[in-house]
Amino acid sequence: MTSTLITGISELWTLDPALDDPARPGRVTDEQVHRKAALVLEDGVVAWSGPAAQAPPADAAVDLGGRAVLPGWVDSHTHLIFDGDRAAEFEARMAGQAYAAGGIGVTTGATRSASEERLRSLVRSRVAEAVAGGTTCLETKTGYGLTVEQELRAARLASALVEAGELDEVTFLGAHLVPSEFAGRAEEYVDLVTGDMLAAVAPHVRWIDVFCEDGAFDPEQSQRVLRAGAEAGLGLRVHGHQLGRSGGVALAVELGAASVDHVNHMEDSDVEALAATADRDTRPGSAAGHLAVDAGPTVATVLPACDLSTRAPLAPARRLLDAGAAVAIASNCNPGTSYTSSMSFCVATAVLQMHLSLAEAIRAATRGGALALRREDVGHLAVGARADLHVLDAPAAIDLAYRPGMPLTHQVWRAGALIS
Ligand code: NIG
Repeated sequence: MTSTLITGISELWTLDPALDDPARPGRVTDEQVHRKAALVLEDGVVAWSGPAAQAPPADAAVDLGGRAVLPGWVDSHTHLIFDGDRAAEFEARMAGQAYAAGGIGVTTGATRSASEERLRSLVRSRVAEAVAGGTTCLETKTGYGLTVEQELRAARLASALVEAGELDEVTFLGAHLVPSEFAGRAEEYVDLVTGDMLAAVAPHVRWIDVFCEDGAFDPEQSQRVLRAGAEAGLGLRVHGHQLGRSGGVALAVELGAASVDHVNHMEDSDVEALAATADRDTRPGSAAGHLAVDAGPTVATVLPACDLSTRAPLAPARRLLDAGAAVAIASNCNPGTSYTSSMSFCVATAVLQMHLSLAEAIRAATRGGALALRREDVGHLAVGARADLHVLDAPAAIDLAYRPGMPLTHQVWRAGALIS
């Protein structure tokens, strides 16, 4: 058991949940950011933090030379298990074509033909890219297999990476698209997803998700998928209101989903419905530091890179926060709508284009993501948190938005180990 003292921290964003201001949800308080600070890591968790002048001794010491330290990004929405790219579709979109759900079928074809070894190596290289950008807690979905065998293969591959400490959360997204072999037989496909597919995949995943949208699954079909998932003991997530007002928000709120993601097309009543879930109880979770999946607010997860890449109206993150809704920022890394895992880019976009303050954006990309994944061990650097650090090559975090696109990640630590 060795301890490491980290000094030379110009700005330390602990985002300690115990120091939240209940009257200002989603906001960062002055006490949650320290200047001239130090940290002690021990056994993979934060053991001490405070003014550098009062730092206790430790077995090893690291001097960061006056850099800002944030909790690692918590990316609560990605689709990393795929082969092929859709650059041509992207180019056509930049020339004016609208995004449609059908492109998922193209990636499904490429993914089905990939060998397991190739798929694993593709996923691992995407995880490495995310880590290099400061992400330390990563969710991925299945959803480019769409047969029992292929969804099971994806879920197994991802859960093995969770076991290996490379990924954190796996979501079953068999209800991503009705595959072409089921054309005109959507109900039969939903039977498969909620029957044999779910039974095969459930032991390997913690979450179930559904693409509730025109061209994918309607609210009734989505409800069937989510209810079956809940019965199998999975937590609920929803892709909703990406292309239109699909009904996904109401469904997510009604069923107590942990998150509804995209939320581009929002009426005031949708914003209010999400805000009204903000006070839902977060019951203490298991020893692993997980909150119960079915407790807590339905988080509105905004996906800034996706909004830009699909030229969609930006999700109303400002309105959601002002209404009191819980907000997360995620990358939505996938080959169709958002081929980037750069959370720093998403945070910069949230500040520059969605009108969040830097502190609100950082909080949404750390604590917000953790809440969307019902985790209390990540997304902050209070004593006891997993020691996941994002060390910036900058004295202050404002550089993330002030110098957008610059390589500002200096180091990344996960569970107390330097990983990038
Ligand atoms: O979250 N919207 C559904 N799923 C992905 C897109 C998948 C694709 O087009 O391949 C998303 O944007």
